Amino acid sequence: MGTMQRFSDIGELRQQLHHWRMAGERIVFVPTMGNLHRGHLRLVEQARDHGQRVVVSIFVNPMQFNDKDDFAAYPNTLVQDCAKLTEAGVDALFLPSVEVIYPDGYQQSSQVVVPGLSDILCGEHRPGHFIGVTTVVAKLFNIVLPDVALFGEKDFQQLMIIRRMMVDELYFPVEIVGVATARESDGLAMSSRNGYLNAEERQQAPLLYRVLEQAKSQLLLGSESSLVIETQAIQALQEGGFIPEYFSVRSRKDLSKAEGNAQGLVIVAAAWLGRARLIDNICLNSG
Ligand code: PAJ
Repeated sequence: MGTMQRFSDIGELRQQLHHWRMAGERIVFVPTMGNLHRGHLRLVEQARDHGQRVVVSIFVNPMQFNDKDDFAAYPNTLVQDCAKLTEAGVDALFLPSVEVIYPDGYQQSSQVVVPGLSDILCGEHRPGHFIGVTTVVAKLFNIVLPDVALFGEKDFQQLMIIRRMMVDELYFPVEIVGVATARESDGLAMSSRNGYLNAEERQQAPLLYRVLEQAKSQLLLGSESSLVIETQAIQALQEGGFIPEYFSVRSRKDLSKAEGNAQGLVIVAAAWLGRARLIDNICLNSG
């Protein structure tokens, strides 16, 4: 295992990447906001299968937080993160400052806007969030110029926006790979935000995935409409101590509202539990 090089300067990172590219090595990129858990590490491990050089970024992107306190409270665990990435055999870690990514401040930054898909579901409840995501991912892609980039299916809408719009519409020359959600043994999707749960809430939290699984089997049975299933799910979450934002059966093609057990559906959910906003999703029959 080689050593992991750290970069906070764009020019130095680009120089190293240039050398690797000239040697015919494929660059695989995993963007993160740090506070790394097994979900992130699964992306890093799978990155190895797609090329010779794995580059990870840790950048807590102020532009995608629509709440200043949420940004300020975002956990920083850089020492542990570096140890995990070194252990995983990462070649380069990019750790830019806010000034490097947003020289004139993020309020002044040029933006990459993906209308439609960014305005629904999480976008409706967190206005401007996905503009921050697509803008920073576009910047990071232009800095790293990866051949392949990996994103988690846990953030299903984010993955779709990046894949369908940035690649299909803006022709970023990068292959996007989606990675299955890593879960705790009780089903809870791993997330940096799980750390905001107290002991009691942590016990309640797996209900979100259980309700998604239940909705999936109801849909597959085909005896209830999507609307009835969604209403029952929201009620079950409320009874379990959650404050749901949405619970919705959608088409995997464009996240439009969907009915029946047709091919290619996904059920997406977001709900507050105490201080934590949890999101999760479950796919129906692949196709
Ligand atoms: P962050 O929340 O740190 O997540 C980084 C990547 O890890 C994302 O692609 C996310 O989908 C994936 N991930 C998180 N939890 C996961 C889990 N339990 N299983 C599998 N993958 C998981 O998402 C972001 O950062 C930011 O929006 C970013 C894309 C870096 C842009 O700032």
